[in-house]
Order: sequence, then structure tokens, then C-alpha cells
Amino acid sequence: MPIKKAIFPVAGLGTRFLPATKAQPKEMLPVVDKPLIQYAVEEAYAAGVREMIFVTGRHKRPIEDHFDLTYELEVALEQAGKDELLSVVRSVKPDDMECVYVRQAQALGLGHAVLCGRRLVGNDPFAVLLADDLMVGQPPVLQQMVEQFKEWRASILAVQEVPPEHTRRYGIVAGTTVNDRLVDITRIVEKPAPEQAPSNLGVAGRYILTAGVFDEIVRQPRGVGGEIQLTDGIAGLLRREKVFAYRYEGKRYDCGSKEGFLQANVELALQHPALGAGFRDYLKGLEI
Ligand code: UTP
Repeated sequence: MPIKKAIFPVAGLGTRFLPATKAQPKEMLPVVDKPLIQYAVEEAYAAGVREMIFVTGRHKRPIEDHFDLTYELEVALEQAGKDELLSVVRSVKPDDMECVYVRQAQALGLGHAVLCGRRLVGNDPFAVLLADDLMVGQPPVLQQMVEQFKEWRASILAVQEVPPEHTRRYGIVAGTTVNDRLVDITRIVEKPAPEQAPSNLGVAGRYILTAGVFDEIVRQPRGVGGEIQLTDGIAGLLRREKVFAYRYEGKRYDCGSKEGFLQANVELALQHPALGAGFRDYLKGLEI
């Protein structure tokens, strides 16, 4: 049973990125030449997902426009014989990919955003991708997780080791080691203080979840920050089902923060086939 549907919660306020996010979604901020949301959608597509469910809010129209047909632009590029650019534009939404949108009227938290996708997901296991976590991995991180899902048939959370002083930024998991990449989770806590953190394994913005999580989200009271937390829903789920933490192979850029966003731009520009060499020379020439 492969994963065919993914939820992209994109209704957050993006306050850490103000003023850039005052009137435009943070998920449309470009890293080099692609908006963050496109990286996440491409990762999901590479993992076999074909139905992309966007949980949107106010100011999020540019996301819908980005994955829509841009008829005038395509005609203009075609007439100008700019075939390469035309294929770049067309590749944003392959023909066999479906995009659906549901609104989260109020940003009540990530758990609430995921719950907004419930009807569109139905009863099958599904993926959740947070576009502000830009993941670079080969194979792509969600694909690695789908492979794990095929083996274990249970929810899988992407995790990484985080410095003790950063536990307040993450959901932190603890459990029993299955192998060097996998932990059978027994506890998950949202944004604990370092002295209360049960381990140093922080959840990154990639999840494969069974549909049982929806009922669990509904049952939870408001959590950290007064928000309906996905972490609390997962804590409920693991009382009923197995949930695994998977140490992914690859690198994560926290593009919800200015530092992470800048690092992603520099590193991906250096790897860019057309820009990399020139940009490297430019950086070398800077007196820093
Ligand atoms: P974040 O907490 O990182 O995003 O949520 P935020 O709230 O937009 O950003 P800051 O902290 O104010 O800067 C992680 C993801 O969950 C989505 C966000 O859009 C982001 O992709 N989210 C969060 C929702 O869709 N709805 C919510 O109610 C909260």
C-alpha cells in the first residue's frame, strides 16, 4: 500500500519571517530559483505521492496560482521559442499530479491544520510535509520514509539529533532502538525544556501517519502555546499503535528561520549546475 496523498500545512502566520511574510506566504519564499513549497511537492512526487492537499489560509493565493496553469505565460514562452523555460514552467505540475486546497480559517496549530485535511485523506495512511523544512537527501527523505513504511506498516516520523539547547524548538521522541536508523517510540513531547527532554531526537517536518491520528488529534486538549499540536495527537496514537522514529539520511534546512533560509540559499546556490562555480568564486572574493 504505497502513500498516495500528502498534506502540506501552509496556513501558518510565518511571524519569524516578518516583514517578508506580511502579505505573502513564507512557503513561496524562493531558495535560489524555486519556492520552498515546490521543493516539498517535488519530494512528495518523487516518493510516489500524486494527490497534494494544501491546507491554506489568508494570503495563500500565490500557492494556488503557482500550481495552476499559467496560460498567458506559456503562450508567450511558446511564441518566443523559449522551450527550456516552457518546460521549467510546465514541470511545476506534472499531468498526473492533483492539487487540492482546503482552508484553515484560523491558525490554531499544526494538529488542527492536519485535521483540516481529514476528509480529503480518508482512511489511508498519508504523508505530512512542512515546506519550511527544506530536506536535501538522496534518495529524497520522504522516499526513504516510504521504504520504511512498506516494511513496518506503521507511522514513521523523520528525526535528527538536535543540540540540547534547541529542544524547545522540536517535538522530542524517546523509545527503544530497533536498528541504527529506527527507534520504536514510547514517548513524544512537544518543545520540552532541555532538562525535561526525554532524548536529543527532534522531529523534522516529515511524517507518514495512519488515519488513526485524526481521532487522536480531536481528543487532545490545546497544548504548548495554546495550539492544537500534532505532537499531542501522535502521543495519543502511540498508545494504540506502533509509531517509529526514522533517522533520515540527508540534510535539513530550517527555512522558517532567517539563518536556516540564508544557509539553504548559499549551499544550494553552490550546488546549482549553472550558478555554482561563479557563485563560489564570488564568495571567495568576499573579504569575510
Ligand atoms: P510553524 O510554527 O513553523 O509556522 O509551523 P508558522 O506558525 O507559520 O511560523 P512562525 O513560527 O510564526 O514563524 C509549521 C508549519 O505548519 C503550518 C505552517 O504554515 C508551517 O508550514 N501551520 C502552522 C499551519 O498550517 N497552521 C497552523 O495553525 C500552524
